[in-house]
Amino acid sequence: MNFKEHLDQNEIFSKVAKAAENLGLETYVVGGYVRDLILGRVNKDLDFTCVGSGIALAEEVAKQFEYHVPLSVFKNFGTAMLQLEDSELEFVGARKESYRLESRKPIVENGTLEEDLERRDFTINAMAISLNKENYGDLLDPYDGVGDIKRKLIKTPTDPEVTFSDDPLRMMRAVRFASQLNFDIDADTFFALTKNASRLKIISAERIIVELNKIILCDKPSYGFKLLFAGKLLHEFFPEMVELQGVDSVDDKSHKDNFYHTLQVLDNVCQVSDSLWLRWAAIMHDIAKPATKRFNAKAGWTFHGHEDKGARMTPGIFKRLKLPMDERMKYVQKLVRLHLRPIALVKDEVTDSALRRLLFDAGDDIEDLMKLCRADITSKNNKKVKRYLENFDKVEQKLQEVEEKDQVRNFQPPISGEEIMETFDLSPSKIVGEIKEEIKEAILEGKIHNSPEEARRLMLEIAESKGISTKTKS
Ligand code: CTP
Repeated sequence: MNFKEHLDQNEIFSKVAKAAENLGLETYVVGGYVRDLILGRVNKDLDFTCVGSGIALAEEVAKQFEYHVPLSVFKNFGTAMLQLEDSELEFVGARKESYRLESRKPIVENGTLEEDLERRDFTINAMAISLNKENYGDLLDPYDGVGDIKRKLIKTPTDPEVTFSDDPLRMMRAVRFASQLNFDIDADTFFALTKNASRLKIISAERIIVELNKIILCDKPSYGFKLLFAGKLLHEFFPEMVELQGVDSVDDKSHKDNFYHTLQVLDNVCQVSDSLWLRWAAIMHDIAKPATKRFNAKAGWTFHGHEDKGARMTPGIFKRLKLPMDERMKYVQKLVRLHLRPIALVKDEVTDSALRRLLFDAGDDIEDLMKLCRADITSKNNKKVKRYLENFDKVEQKLQEVEEKDQVRNFQPPISGEEIMETFDLSPSKIVGEIKEEIKEAILEGKIHNSPEEARRLMLEIAESKGISTKTKS
């Protein structure tokens, strides 16, 4: 690969090279950008390392642009960032010590480029391209990162024990890069990872979840989860998921392994959606199966109520993992709670009211719920799968018909509390809510249509039965 040609195509490099020359600083493009360039992936974050002050270099680079480029300086870390329209340039002086960019007391000891590369996480991230006049465009690859890209290997440049103890998050990163790139983890590196897994404890949940979500957003996250499980990293931050693994047998009756089932559901969902939160719903949908597992001679293994218990477990798990506690958590919780409902609707004699209730409960998330339910069919029996999917087609058809008729998916009460209060001269009180609730129930049950006229008529009937009279206007 001709790196000089690549550098020549982008004015950023000539500007950085010019600034470096002005200051007499040895400078390189390093890390993820170089890796992605070789892999043919687009990366808008450019990291530059110089032998000297990264901040001084950033300031000099900013001067090379005719327009104003916002510069952020992080004195404590000895780094500086330039924000261009569609890329971010980060500058740092080469370091000897470990990468402690996020620790409170960073150790910044100046070093050579070679020392800097040696302390990086993986061989594929420990490459640099020179921006210096004498060897402009040359690739420096002391740990054969190019070879590991060819071999599809995640491997630490030096002793993995040292690399991982410098920053235990790198164990998560190893799995993340393996998942994103569909690479293997080198055997010695993986052995050290397994050995040091418990050191993940000192890493904040905030940093862990960034890596975990990147794994979840891969095309086939099951691969990453299997590595997390095999390396015992998952045990450190997500024991509930580890609990899913395993098969119990009594009297020759076994249940399926819910860990591998969950991963299959997750992969299935990934085929039809890029949404992180639908993927999280897949991860969580059976999370309460271990807690609700019972054996009964007649029925075999049961997991009664795992959908409700799973929904109740969701906030605690989200909070601990530092996932958002807002409507995204509520969405996951809702899908977990409802994930068995559509399958219960496949029977022929299903009532419209059951369909209306599902539409009412799922609201605008009904399509996502159906995606999850379809993904949940992981039987190896193709005939069974086909039959279930056809049943879901029928359910979706019926849901559509009911929605067209009754519009309950975004249910808006046909009569407002104000109108009830006005009609009966009531002040805000419990009874107003009760009347509203009865009207809603009647609509969902199909006793009346979702129309203001019918709702008004029912309102009067309800009021009469409760002994409430309408306001007599003078
Ligand atoms: N790095 C490291 N150890 C870490 C984090 C980062 O050695 N714990 C080094 C790696 O050389 C990495 C570079 O810093 O290539 C930049 O890190 P970062 O921006 O987090 O990752 P990228 O490799 O650029 O990958 P991505 O953009 O996909 O996160």
